[in-house]
Amino acid sequence: MSMIDHLTIRRPDDWHLHLRDGVMLEGIVSPSFQHIGRAIIMPNLVPPVVRGDDARAYRDRILKAMEKAGLETSSAHRQLLMTIYLTETTDPDDVEAAAAEGLVHAVKLYPAGATTNSDSGVSRIDTVIPVLERMADVALPLCVHGEVTDPEVDIFDREAVFIDRVLDPVRRRVDGLRVVMEHVTTDDAVAYVSAASSGLGATITPHHLMINRNHLLVGGIKPHYYCLPIVKRERHRLALRKAATSGDPRFFLGTDSAPHADHTKEAPCGCAGVFNAPNTLSCLAQVFEEEQALDKLEAFASLHGPAFYRLPPNDEVITLTKQHEPVRYPEKVDTEAGPVTVFDPGTPLYWNVT
Ligand code: DOR
Ligand code: ZN
Repeated sequence: MSMIDHLTIRRPDDWHLHLRDGVMLEGIVSPSFQHIGRAIIMPNLVPPVVRGDDARAYRDRILKAMEKAGLETSSAHRQLLMTIYLTETTDPDDVEAAAAEGLVHAVKLYPAGATTNSDSGVSRIDTVIPVLERMADVALPLCVHGEVTDPEVDIFDREAVFIDRVLDPVRRRVDGLRVVMEHVTTDDAVAYVSAASSGLGATITPHHLMINRNHLLVGGIKPHYYCLPIVKRERHRLALRKAATSGDPRFFLGTDSAPHADHTKEAPCGCAGVFNAPNTLSCLAQVFEEEQALDKLEAFASLHGPAFYRLPPNDEVITLTKQHEPVRYPEKVDTEAGPVTVFDPGTPLYWNVT
């Protein structure tokens, strides 16, 4: 039994965050940046962020929303690490220029139709090889949503099939390409990433560490547990917990915090996405304590991500404290786009950032 009730770690970063746009952005920007430092900002807006100019304009809208919300934007730890949405017409020169400027830190591959706002994504991987080759030349990472969209493939198998059909062939074809397999959900992905020699990392979300498909489906369907890649069976959740707490530098935090207004999730065709930003660190500390690996939390949340992205870790620290009473976090965050339900892991949380 661990007796630790305080833990001071370098400030974590989020290597996969959805901030949205417009009134939703204004409503969720504060809870999204409560504790984390830097964040890789996902580009799946409508229309998507497809060029360097789009990324710059989006970054400026986020900064404006942060200022309006009273968040400090000047300090280095609040850096917005922008991404470009890969399409079949992405221009390698544009990507290289946006990276050279220090604006864009990754390019995101969405297989067309795989998830929320992925219609402009890639159907024929051959068409993007020149962009990927340029990215390898300038060491710009590719973040992948690792699911095939083949209607014949069962939704629970789409990640494993993606590794065989797309990810592994692309990595073999484009020498030196640095890849982050985003929000891994299976022991297949954990095994593939663990076996890679270099240039491959993976993010893991708090919710995939805490819930399995029974939580989603048994006793009634829970729309706020529906996300993509979908939560899998228990065996996979256990593999993710092992990877996250192992100290292996290839695994790091990407929350995939993905707010949708409640009426769009509690619907006959509900949106995919879990809004976990307000309690990410409470969830993570709980998981790491349960796995008797609190000493590995800083590595997962604050060190492995910067190392992969070749950035220094944050100098600032945060302190987590274990309370006697359950942590109180809002059930919903109100936005002008409607209320957004916060991830409820279904179990009380005791660790809080103090
Ligand atoms: O559940 C998800 N929500 N998965 C994704 O890949 C996209 C995200 C979103 O943007 O809502
Ligand atoms: Zn995402």
